[in-house]
Amino acid sequence: MLVFIRMLKLSITTILLIWLGSLTCFAQQNTLDSQAPIAQKVDQLLLKMTLEEKVGQLNQYASYKNATGPINSTGNIVDEIKQGRVGSILKVNGTVDIRIYQQAAMQSRLKIPLLFGEDVIHGYHTTFPIPLAEASSWDMAAIGLSARIAATEAAASGINWTFAPMVDISRDPRWGRIMEGAGEDPYLGSQIAIARVKGFQGNGLGSLDAVMACAKHFAAYGAAIAGRDYNSVDISDRTLWEVYLPPFKAAVDAGAATFMNSFNELNGIPATGNTYLQRDILKGQWGYKGFVVSDWGSITEMINHGFVADKRHAAMAAITAGCDMDMEGRSYIDNLPQLVKSGAVSVALIDDAVRRILQKKFELGLFDDPFRFCNTEREKTVVNSPENKAIARSVAQKSMVLLKNDNQLLPLSKNLKQIALIGPLAKAKKDMRGFWALPWGESDETDPVSLYEGIQNKLGNNTTLLYAKGCNIDDTVRAGFADAVKAAQQADVVVMAVGEAFDMSGEAKSRANIHIPGVQEDLIKAIRATGKPLVVLVMGGRPLIFNWTADHAPAILYTWWLGTEAGNAMADVLFGDYNPSGKLPVSFPRSEGQIPIYYSYKSTGRPLISPADVVYKSAYIDQLNTPRYAFGYGLSYTSFKYSDLKLSAKTMNDKQKILISFALTNTGKYAGEEVAQLYLHDRVASVTRPVKELKDFIKVNLKPSETCVVNFEIDSKKLAFYNQKMIWSTEPGMFDIMIGSASDDIRLTDTFQLIKTQ
Ligand code: NOJ
Repeated sequence: MLVFIRMLKLSITTILLIWLGSLTCFAQQNTLDSQAPIAQKVDQLLLKMTLEEKVGQLNQYASYKNATGPINSTGNIVDEIKQGRVGSILKVNGTVDIRIYQQAAMQSRLKIPLLFGEDVIHGYHTTFPIPLAEASSWDMAAIGLSARIAATEAAASGINWTFAPMVDISRDPRWGRIMEGAGEDPYLGSQIAIARVKGFQGNGLGSLDAVMACAKHFAAYGAAIAGRDYNSVDISDRTLWEVYLPPFKAAVDAGAATFMNSFNELNGIPATGNTYLQRDILKGQWGYKGFVVSDWGSITEMINHGFVADKRHAAMAAITAGCDMDMEGRSYIDNLPQLVKSGAVSVALIDDAVRRILQKKFELGLFDDPFRFCNTEREKTVVNSPENKAIARSVAQKSMVLLKNDNQLLPLSKNLKQIALIGPLAKAKKDMRGFWALPWGESDETDPVSLYEGIQNKLGNNTTLLYAKGCNIDDTVRAGFADAVKAAQQADVVVMAVGEAFDMSGEAKSRANIHIPGVQEDLIKAIRATGKPLVVLVMGGRPLIFNWTADHAPAILYTWWLGTEAGNAMADVLFGDYNPSGKLPVSFPRSEGQIPIYYSYKSTGRPLISPADVVYKSAYIDQLNTPRYAFGYGLSYTSFKYSDLKLSAKTMNDKQKILISFALTNTGKYAGEEVAQLYLHDRVASVTRPVKELKDFIKVNLKPSETCVVNFEIDSKKLAFYNQKMIWSTEPGMFDIMIGSASDDIRLTDTFQLIKTQ
């Protein structure tokens, strides 16, 4: 019944918004009280606008450069801008080019400045690690700083809007876009969403180095069936709310200026035309005041989905559902004026969308100075500066995950005489930047530091580097194996660089086979047979499968794609100038058959207790249930001891808190950072709860033998869930506390009881 009431309330909100446009305007003004001057300016401007000019504000075109989707525009963009038919441009950057477009906007009747959007996903020119790699740092300051630098460079280059962060949870490494998010967990994903939104928006819109963030893709894009990009999504409302929505809500709370909807349909309704998502949840329940842009052509694509018959109906469905801007789809500009004139679409809907967009243009200060982001001198000093590269190197160091280090093979001595550097990625440069790095022409080949160069930079001439490519990334040619083996035989230590090319994970880069591609693992086998000490660096955008290597290589470092400073950062870790501290933000499967795989699964009625006893248990008869590497896992050159767990109380009610404390000691010989993780388990509930859920974490830096006391706090927010009526609430009962170094490496446990509040 309560679900029904909630749905009813949401639908009433929707109906009111659609049919009582004037009332909506009134409500909007009231809620914008703290910014009344801007709201008034928006209203005054709106009064002057023709219907066509209003629709123009909802229209975004891609420039013809660097397209990341099919171009639908045929006309002369600059002319259309002059006619007031364009509100935003994407894919044009650099102060010189942006000035040209903005000048055209200044020739339009109302001189409304354009927004310039770009996919500044992991750095602008200075490329930072891919988002999934940064997520492995579990270091919110580092992730925030990376977004800050990206924003600073982009803003200096004329851009005022980034299509980031992508906050889609994904539990399917076949999906190529897993590289662009923060992994599988809603809590970690939410913290990272906050760090990124705040990093991009800095001191707030209006600052010269702030760009608008865009939380995308709303919603559940990461749940694409079978991990195939753009595929349908069919998940329960519970999964939507528990897993996929939390990072979006966190982005709203962090002040994300914009949202992007998504290509996928959700339970039969394309996200772009989904009223439940955009009006009811986002703009209704969450009170979101920013605007929503479609994904590239996603309004028109609703025709292919079979949701609408033609572009006219696509435009009507999208604007009604709450999609404010049409990205490179031409649905709005071609159809909305007529739809309004015919009475099929209320002008109030158009006004609401225009208001939201103009509001942001005012907040950015573009009406005061449309060229404020177009200072070419500033661009020269800020973009790709040595300072920014130094920060990228430090974030890259933190983003690597040490998966294996038998007999402390790493760190390597800097006094080695001969190192063999083998593998198709050992000298790769462009690949180091990863997918979603912006194209910079020649400097894509020159700027990024390869692993080879990084080691050379570190060791100078005292060490000889014996290089052999061995094989290509993704073919079956083994002709280079013999040279590689020869190089290995001459060396003191072998370092191998294997994995994916930059364009093997990313948009439209789903793969059904996510093993290390080509014959690279065979090359590893051949090199291992030499008996030489072997360190394998695995590079890529997704969790890859490499079971033989995992079993036989003594040391494995997962580097992802680390950006411009990749080689230097990898050398820092290999030779001990940085002690690795990354932890996996996503589970690594043993085989594709285990996907989707995640640590916060449900117990089932027949849980597997012992891997040896699978009969009538929820298990595979040909594969373990466990991942190859678990969520939260990652080694260090040092070791950490967890001890002395204390709880301030063993019971609490909804209004109380329990303070947890424990001692964390660095028991090894290197200084290092540990990510201590707090998991909870609600033993019995009216809706079954996962076997464990991450509820807090902290990254601590400790010198050898140093101990610190770590505190976590448990309040009722950490215990609540959506009950059977989908109401966010707590239920009394016993909870397990699990504190550890990874989701499968729990070091301290205890229990407490939540008692009913009277
Ligand atoms: C499509 C992608 O899904 C989206 O994330 C991106 O921002 C746009 N293309 C623009 O490149």
